[in-house]
Amino acid sequence: MYKYSISILGTGFIGLCSAACFSNKDVKVLASTHNENKAKMINDGKAPFFEANLQEIMEEVKKNNPELLQCLTDPVKAVLETDISMITQGTPMRNDKSIDLSFIESTAREIGEALKIKDKYHLVVVRSTVVPGTTRNLVGKIITEVSGKEPGKDFGLSMQPEFLAEGRSIEDTLHPDRIVIGGIDNKSGDMLQEFYEYFYGDHLQICPILRMNLESAELVKYGNNCLLSTKISYANEFANFAELVPNIDIAQVMKGVGLDYRLNSRFLNAGVGFGGSCFHKDVNAIKAWSKSKGYTSRLLEAVLDINDDQAIHIVDMAEELAGKLAGKKITLLGLAFKPGTDDMREAASIRVVNELLKRNVTDIVGYDPKANETAEVEMGKKIKYAKSITEALKDSECALIITEWDEFKELKPEDFIKHMKTANLVDGRRIYDYGKFIEKLSFRAIGRTALK
Ligand code: UDX
Repeated sequence: MYKYSISILGTGFIGLCSAACFSNKDVKVLASTHNENKAKMINDGKAPFFEANLQEIMEEVKKNNPELLQCLTDPVKAVLETDISMITQGTPMRNDKSIDLSFIESTAREIGEALKIKDKYHLVVVRSTVVPGTTRNLVGKIITEVSGKEPGKDFGLSMQPEFLAEGRSIEDTLHPDRIVIGGIDNKSGDMLQEFYEYFYGDHLQICPILRMNLESAELVKYGNNCLLSTKISYANEFANFAELVPNIDIAQVMKGVGLDYRLNSRFLNAGVGFGGSCFHKDVNAIKAWSKSKGYTSRLLEAVLDINDDQAIHIVDMAEELAGKLAGKKITLLGLAFKPGTDDMREAASIRVVNELLKRNVTDIVGYDPKANETAEVEMGKKIKYAKSITEALKDSECALIITEWDEFKELKPEDFIKHMKTANLVDGRRIYDYGKFIEKLSFRAIGRTALK
């Protein structure tokens, strides 16, 4: 018997990273997915998607204690055989940009089915990003409806948002900076806190546990993603100010701003805009939610508009250098939404390509060290995909840096001159030394213009 047994319903980034880390620390985990292939892979100790260090942890568990991490295709069984259930399903964006809670809903039903036949107290924890009210009014109510059991009496209900960033999910799971626990009552929160006191041990000396109600906990997650997105759009707005007169460098400006003890410099890098699976989805979700309650967010509207406009702006910069782009070969260096991943969700490259197509540019070639294949799934034949930087630059009349991969940072002005037909370069991520590049190339960079 293990001290803690947890079912994890949903095997995406949050679910599987938690499952792997928990099971590696003597917690009995029953993960659950309806995808049989995925379940088989997990049971074979193989990560079904790439995330730094996930595979290694899964292998360790498989080698040392395989019964600790099992994946079922039967969520009801997973709930019945554990004491705590975590809902880690995706909450995608609907076509109207509001949140799609259908996976949360069906999982709540499955938990309800299990609790109908379970006598023991069970704790249900929502870990997915959900708009305020969802845990109490959707998850809690559905479980009660299906099981006939009462929250706060027969089962506990908690909400614990996660703050994982892709590429850092394992590190963020093992060493969070805070743990937010919302509870329908003290008992629900206490039970989850007790588990984390066991799991994190000494780490809690530098990681506060914040206790609050369900709705506040739900809003914390949006508070984070909206503020981080706002910081980026704020830096991009200032980058646009910086370009109004010669010789301002946005990177130096934001460094100066970020050193204020009340702020910090993180997420103040101006560029071609944010992407990824969370920022757009979550900013849009909370914006749509607040509108449905009668309040229209002007701030978040601006955050999204500024972000979209950066893609148009970078194409304008390219036209300033190269003239009308239609009929010319244009190169995009970097396609993924950030370095270190092949994830193309909401990537800035997609918006840039769409803008180029609008301007009748048809000869676009992209190169990404990791994301060529996923980019092809996303953008198909809208662009061509090069196998190397050299191939991407060959005969090109303008190159745009879209993702700040290390291998692009190593390029010198001579590399662009050597391979391109005309060496026009737009640095959309501020990776190059402005002085050195402007000397040798026809060059523009976000948030920086030359001294005239
Ligand atoms: C983000 C949050 O960081 C994480 O806490 C949350 O749980 C999920 O969403 P992620 O989407 O993995 O994580 O990536 P992140 O590293 O935050 O970057 C998001 C986007 O912002 C990237 O496209 C990145 O290029 C962009 N970005 C980031 C900037 O444009 N400027 C910056 O200063 C920082």
